[in-house]
Amino acid sequence: METGYTVEQLRAAATDAVRAPSLHNVQPWRFRLRDGGIEVLLDPARRLPATDPSGWGARVAGGAALFNLRLALAVAGAPATVRLRPYPSEPDVLARLVPDLPSRPSPTEQNLYAAIPRRFSNRAPFWPDPVPADSRWRLAEAARAEHCWLELLIGVSAVNAFAEIARGAHRVLERDPAYRAERESWVRPGPEPDGVPATAGGPQAEPQDLLPSRGFGGIQRAPGRDFEPEPLVAVLGSAGNTAVDQVVAGQALQRVLLTATDAGLSVSMLSQPIEVPSAREQLRLSLGRFGAPQMVMRIGYGQPGRPTPRRPVDEVLDLPVHLG
Ligand SMILES: Cc1cc2nc3c(=O)[nH]c(=O)nc-3n(C[C@H](O)[C@H](O)[C@H](O)COP(=O)(O)O)c2cc1C
Repeated sequence: METGYTVEQLRAAATDAVRAPSLHNVQPWRFRLRDGGIEVLLDPARRLPATDPSGWGARVAGGAALFNLRLALAVAGAPATVRLRPYPSEPDVLARLVPDLPSRPSPTEQNLYAAIPRRFSNRAPFWPDPVPADSRWRLAEAARAEHCWLELLIGVSAVNAFAEIARGAHRVLERDPAYRAERESWVRPGPEPDGVPATAGGPQAEPQDLLPSRGFGGIQRAPGRDFEPEPLVAVLGSAGNTAVDQVVAGQALQRVLLTATDAGLSVSMLSQPIEVPSAREQLRLSLGRFGAPQMVMRIGYGQPGRPTPRRPVDEVLDLPVHLG
């Protein structure tokens, strides 16, 4: 009897996995079948040495792809048991999934799965309407369900204090020419299979903006289209900051993002204060949290937009030659 996953299951699930977010849309993942298990790997050719020297961002993105993969398998009735970083001698293998007992997907899994193709980073200003309490609760629960915490910043002074940390981190990063060059090399004038299309990059930054934006060569803002004055800022954090914690955080990130999409909310991510160690520690202290902040999100009601392109799935599959 066949006990492992098939190439067809791998290809179908990986098609959903690649919809995950990644720094500069580098898509740092690969997927393979080994001894009947599906494995998620980091692609050494898709590192960002200046932006992500430690590999934190790649592991978070890989964790987000892993969450989509888990969902896809669960919704197909073939849920997985997951082992993170299964081979100590192969740190680029982030996870191994083997079939668990077949079962019917839950309504939550079905709703989150349906949100995968609709989710995208929305860097434009949001409407000023507040995010209702039940949606806030669902977002925090989504993080908890994946063993992480989500802190929603309440009140103008908490958001202002955060903004100061974020702007400081942004300034530190922007001083590095290699970091700036790397970002610019991933901006795409039109739709291409990877990188950030300039049309998705959000509006150009202006001096009155509270939060820093990455500067993906965005469009000029129409007069009066400022960012919402009191954004809902959420900080996602994990229990620790090992490589495994970062993969765990990536799964939680994706669960929060899909939960937001399912609730009709838009999200943009800002990770400058995570990437500068002193800012990250300042942020952690300001929240009074143990563990490690892993991502910051701006959440609200946005204008419609469209998902960004991905590479064809066959480019990220490692298949045995006779199965390709
Ligand atoms: C670890 C990580 C860090 C990110 N940091 C930022 C950021 O600082 N600013 C930003 O605008 N987007 C950030 N993003 C979002 C990516 O740029 C985005 O996911 C990618 O361009 C693909 O677009 P999509 O989210 O619309 O699918 C980050 C994503 C990840 C996974």
